[in-house]
Amino acid sequence: MKKPNLIYIVSLFLLLGSCSVKQQSGTAVQEFEHGAVVTAHPIASNVGVDILKKGGNAIDAAIAVKFALAVVYPNAGNLGGGGFLVYRGKDGEVNSLDFREKAPGAASRDMYLDKDGNPITDLSLYGQLASGVPGSVAGMDEAHKKYGSISWKELVQPAIDLAAKGFEITDQQAGEFNRYKARFQKFNPNGAAIIQDKEWKAGDVFVQKELSETLIRIAEQGRDGFYKGKTADYIVTEMKRGNGIISHKDLEDYQAVWRAPIVGMYKNYKVISMPPPSSGGVALMALLQSVEKYPLAKWGFQKDSTVRAMVEAERRIYADRATHLGDPDFYRVPVANLMDAKFNQERMSKVSLAKATPSDAVKAAKFPGYESEQTTHYSIVDKDGNAVSLTTTINGSYGSCVWVDGAGFLLNNEMDDFSVKPGTPNMYGLLGGKANSIEPGKRMLSAMTPTIIEENGKLKMVVGTPGGSTIITSVFQTILNVLEFGMTAQESVSAARFHHQWKPDVIDVEAKAIDSLTRVSLTEDGYKLNKRGPIGRVENIVILPNGKKQTGADHRGDDKAAGY
Ligand code: GLY
Repeated sequence: MKKPNLIYIVSLFLLLGSCSVKQQSGTAVQEFEHGAVVTAHPIASNVGVDILKKGGNAIDAAIAVKFALAVVYPNAGNLGGGGFLVYRGKDGEVNSLDFREKAPGAASRDMYLDKDGNPITDLSLYGQLASGVPGSVAGMDEAHKKYGSISWKELVQPAIDLAAKGFEITDQQAGEFNRYKARFQKFNPNGAAIIQDKEWKAGDVFVQKELSETLIRIAEQGRDGFYKGKTADYIVTEMKRGNGIISHKDLEDYQAVWRAPIVGMYKNYKVISMPPPSSGGVALMALLQSVEKYPLAKWGFQKDSTVRAMVEAERRIYADRATHLGDPDFYRVPVANLMDAKFNQERMSKVSLAKATPSDAVKAAKFPGYESEQTTHYSIVDKDGNAVSLTTTINGSYGSCVWVDGAGFLLNNEMDDFSVKPGTPNMYGLLGGKANSIEPGKRMLSAMTPTIIEENGKLKMVVGTPGGSTIITSVFQTILNVLEFGMTAQESVSAARFHHQWKPDVIDVEAKAIDSLTRVSLTEDGYKLNKRGPIGRVENIVILPNGKKQTGADHRGDDKAAGY
């Protein structure tokens, strides 16, 4: 594909020698006979495995993990946010649950613009006005009603204990708690459990009394313990303390929704992922279709042509995303057109891999009839083969930075995931338009991509990640790492990553992604590379032919696999 030049020939020659060398993994491969849980925090992973060992199924474990993460992983685990769950039952039933936050009833299209029509971005990022109506508790309640097998109280109890008795924080957490202190103080003048006079250090015990009381109300009253009564009063009072607009009615009206998942084929693998209001499943499917005809396995992992094919696909799919994706309850999303394999492959067949296509020359596809970081993921498989892939978020790290006074949990800043103004990038640099404009009761577009893969009718992989706009491309790479490049689950998440999202027109690269000679070759042909820190924190479970669950927990964080 690539025109031959001296540097390219030298790079090929040098790289051929390392063809068979596998990516270094961050931690050793782990395999479990029965059930496995991979989350962003060791305590949460253990909570999930305890539930599985007690006879709970993957959904039971997912609920217990969700509440545990709200305690032990406050920068993304949450009661005050939302998320998506993709499910595959042991006999092949697939389903997906949307518990994404919604714009409050008093929200309006221009609520984050000043009188001259310019975005006041801080308003959608910090403080009470940044929050959408939380969906997490309603989501867990729905999941339990449909698939739960052990009592709700038993599933919330581990989180209550962790909040009431406290847990030892990790080194990474201590650093973050200290770095965010000034911001936490600014948005929580009445204090919060996370704010203390002395510096946090690894091993300190973090107790959250108010949060434990909120969790007790949820354990005893189910969703009403959050959306009505004392907790709802605390939320509405917190709104009035700042400039927030979430009302009692918004809370009472909130409903999680079961949606038909995105289901498509990549070669002979069935891909099951999240439909809109996440862009994740549609974009992932379109990316896989776009690269399907290229000999990626032959070219090799992060080799020159592989990177070019993936980046050119990403550039086009993210342009489509910006125009066509939004909440399907408000906007007719052309899902079938966006996931049309023939369309995606024909489009790619006209793309030259010899030179970068400038992003300015790439426009979203036109379909007749249409107008137009901090998140966390976990993967669970139980002993029977039921699988849950769940991504949940309060959007930025520590969300809006507002802890609901009296109730002890953080509120999201998910309103920033709307297109605040067409052409104005959000905190992830993503653009959007009418499809994702703010409307009361609408869900903001997401990139979360909880995904399950099936091979010949059998469960093959359960994968997902946080990372804002990079979520889709991280899941895309992890899937290819296993299916095309033969990596183990651990290697697939440890492998260095890169990312392109149409605009800005750069390939973000982790320090170890794409070897230096390939970088030179790409740069010569018009690709702009931007070095950046860690991309994503992927959690992956791969089911081996012998039925064992091989796990991959991302070493970029404190993430841990557990199982039995
Ligand atoms: N808040 C990140 C996402 O939903 O994509």
